[in-house]
Amino acid sequence: MGSTVLPWRAVMLAFGIMLLSGSAVYAALSVWPIGSGRGVASGVTGNAERGAYLSHMAGCYACHTDHKGEGAAYAGGAVLKTDFGDFHAPNITPDADHGLGAWTLAAFETALRHGVSPAGDPYYPAFPYPFYTRLTDRDVADLWAHLQTLDPVAAPAPPNRLVFPFNQRAGVKLWRAGYFEPGVLEPEEGRDAAWQRGRYIVEGPAHCGACHTPRDGLGGRDAARKFEGGDRLPGGGKSPAITTAALAAEGYGEDEIVFALQIGMLPSGDFFGDSMAEVVEHGTSKLSADDLRAIAVYLLDPVP
Ligand code: HEC
Ligand code: HEC
Repeated sequence: MGSTVLPWRAVMLAFGIMLLSGSAVYAALSVWPIGSGRGVASGVTGNAERGAYLSHMAGCYACHTDHKGEGAAYAGGAVLKTDFGDFHAPNITPDADHGLGAWTLAAFETALRHGVSPAGDPYYPAFPYPFYTRLTDRDVADLWAHLQTLDPVAAPAPPNRLVFPFNQRAGVKLWRAGYFEPGVLEPEEGRDAAWQRGRYIVEGPAHCGACHTPRDGLGGRDAARKFEGGDRLPGGGKSPAITTAALAAEGYGEDEIVFALQIGMLPSGDFFGDSMAEVVEHGTSKLSADDLRAIAVYLLDPVP
């Protein structure tokens, strides 16, 4: 993994994407099947209240709502400016034409854990499904149950505006081949329940690494530099390192991490700015004391 693998992957992917302008290659990519999700075990029924909680933890509410505009909850997000163009998280209210009203739980699971649309097209990883692929069946069913309780909003979100060649959606199949690793996390031996829970939250729904692990020019995370901080955040932002060493150097112990995620105040007494302020406002400030403690336990001793 890591530094020896990434350049090769980047070269292969860049080359592949350049070739997309050749229509034969594009046609081949278009029909390359990418399958569907793992399905949700029968008998798992969702709980809407738990789903609402998870939606805060996972940022669904934060990203799919335009907080700066007049946007209704979950009816489409504010612009996410990236190196590849402008993304908008779509309307995921239960409207039949503009939202998920015509979807099934199976289609939702395939989108969330496998990054594939009902039409069989790949989603861009601006939708953090490379993290959501770790979600349990129960969490997927709970999120779905929560989304069913929303008021349908009969209006589309603004479309993505991506630059060539990234506007060729089939090209995301190459990205997936290089970077997407679907599947659950197996429990680590010799770790207690709080650590396992913290790892699940951080590496799964809360997708901390989406912003705190550096990315290469194609938006792939550099696994060898996990949590070392990123400088390609939407809107051009940067995030600091949250490695165990970096946290210790900034004066974070378990209590300080819990406090920071709860109210957004750093050990220095400053408040979070940028996108972390939104992560706290719509996300971590809503989490239970146990879940925040679990996140802190894991961050102070994560798996590499
Ligand atoms: C960082 C922003 C972000 C977060 C967080 C996020 N999404 Fe999204 N989501 C997106 C974007 C962007 C797309 C569209 C991707 C594309 O065009 O390929 C999307 C697409 C989707 C779709 C497909 C909708 C369609 O019409 O095809 C579903 C369903 C969805 N998200 C649900 C969720 C859920 C549930 C969560 C929380 C577990 C979530 N999203 C969290 C940005 C986000
Ligand atoms: C949408 C991007 C994003 C996500 C997701 C995100 N962060 Fe952050 N984080 C940032 C940014 C940007 C900053 C810097 C904030 C500032 O400069 O005030 C930051 C700062 C921090 C800091 C302060 C570090 C220091 O040096 O004081 C901690 C701790 C932190 N984040 C933890 C987390 C954890 C834990 C998660 C997952 C639950 C997470 N972050 C998810 C963007 C993000």
